[in-house]
Amino acid sequence: MKFLQKSLKAKTIKADVLVIFGCIGKKIKLPLGVNLPKSTLHGANLESGKIRYTDSLSGPFQQVLVLGLGKVSELNQEKLRRAAALAVKESSKHSSESVTFWIGKNFGQDPFLLGQAIAEGAVMGSYQLNLFRKSSPGLKRVTLHTDDKAKSGVSFGLAVGQGNCLARRLQDTPANKMRPRDMVREARKISKSSTNVSLKIIDEAAMKKLGMGSLLSVSAGSSEPAYLIHMIYRPKIKAKKKVCLVGKGLTFDSGGISLKPSARMHEMKYDMSGGAAVLGVFDVLASVGSDHEVHGFIPTSENLPDAKATKPGDVVKAYNGLQIEVLNTDAEGRLILADALSYAEKKIKPDSMIDLATLTGAVVVALGHELTGAMGNNDALIKELVDAGKRTSEGVWPLPILDLHKEEMRGAVGDLRNISGPATGAGSSTGGAFLSYFVNQTPWVHLDIAGSAWGASERDYQGGEKGTGVGVRLLIDYLRSI
Ligand code: BES
Ligand code: ZN
Ligand code: ZN
Repeated sequence: MKFLQKSLKAKTIKADVLVIFGCIGKKIKLPLGVNLPKSTLHGANLESGKIRYTDSLSGPFQQVLVLGLGKVSELNQEKLRRAAALAVKESSKHSSESVTFWIGKNFGQDPFLLGQAIAEGAVMGSYQLNLFRKSSPGLKRVTLHTDDKAKSGVSFGLAVGQGNCLARRLQDTPANKMRPRDMVREARKISKSSTNVSLKIIDEAAMKKLGMGSLLSVSAGSSEPAYLIHMIYRPKIKAKKKVCLVGKGLTFDSGGISLKPSARMHEMKYDMSGGAAVLGVFDVLASVGSDHEVHGFIPTSENLPDAKATKPGDVVKAYNGLQIEVLNTDAEGRLILADALSYAEKKIKPDSMIDLATLTGAVVVALGHELTGAMGNNDALIKELVDAGKRTSEGVWPLPILDLHKEEMRGAVGDLRNISGPATGAGSSTGGAFLSYFVNQTPWVHLDIAGSAWGASERDYQGGEKGTGVGVRLLIDYLRSI
């Protein structure tokens, strides 16, 4: 689909649907030549989320969709994002091919943020995964007319929305079509799209030389080789900060020899959602850039049972020299992240390091599907991410890592064990505690996205069983804020 950006002075072109927004008590500005009955633009019709269709009496549009935003005093980014998504969804239901948004007013909002939210909503609301079944053609063109002050926000929002949709496409693609090698292919595509993005691939032979026994222990049971993807974004001018983003890219988690029950095993195609988020962030960086040098690391592997697979009780040696007793092969995310985190810290020496991983079922119990759990070694960095979560409506909630949790992860045979004892509880915290052994001094936060990566509640621009692309909007916001 094509997204076009235009000013309010530009002439409107022919489209199936015209979308206009209205706030209660505020006069609506219509494009030249469009006339609507007065009753359409008043009172109850403009309650938040309310939609009204009318045939256009004149002008270049067949139908006009009026979308209520409610009271100006209660308007925010999330409402705008949802309204834009709803407009796109409603229009495509009526088998329209082209939609024009006319945003004649800024409704008292910061124009950049208004443009960003509407553009994000329009792009995210138009996401569809049409690769594996016949489906209706859907929208072909969305045109956004805004005040010139909102223009840069619109282009930014389009890029961020597209990054989010890229992450979702990778998430939703089944595991037989999104293998570790496919993750590499996607990273390559992004790096080729921008001269500021480069790519290094560490393959299994290189991992062996580097001593990444922890990562390799996870791919041992699969015929698909594992990779450690390393993407680098360098700004044209001198970078302000260096940030490492590390995403779990487990393209299918069967549990390995500690096999998962089959009922919901198919959902484990989503176990690469952290990696998808990092790729989505780089897609955005490739088009809109950043003041910071950003490194993306994605350890990517399958976790399958096989004669060569790692067995419960096996001991493996990680890149940082610690020996790990693998008591449960289903706690594999922490094993691939361990090597990626210690490698990233040692090679890059970043100012901050953030990992995203669908790490524990326990975080779904604790926080459900609307929130990401955050823990780490630096409260200020956790707060920065919680704040980014508030601004983007990708909610982040702090969880503790206690000394007790770290003690729990010490092994009887090896230095560490990959699961805690049966009576400890706090499964997300002990997962984070395990990871803490692979980070030294760098301010670091672990985001457990096992709940927020898919299955979220309906928000018009995302929701339901499909992936959410969580992390893309959050981390882009974080990078802009530091
Ligand atoms: N990928 C799973 C975590 C997960 C489970 C994500 C359910 C989303 C929904 C992870 O690799 C895993 O299996 N974790 C285990 C850890 C346990 C063995 C300590 C878990 O959460 O059960
Ligand atoms: Zn697992
Ligand atoms: Zn997993």
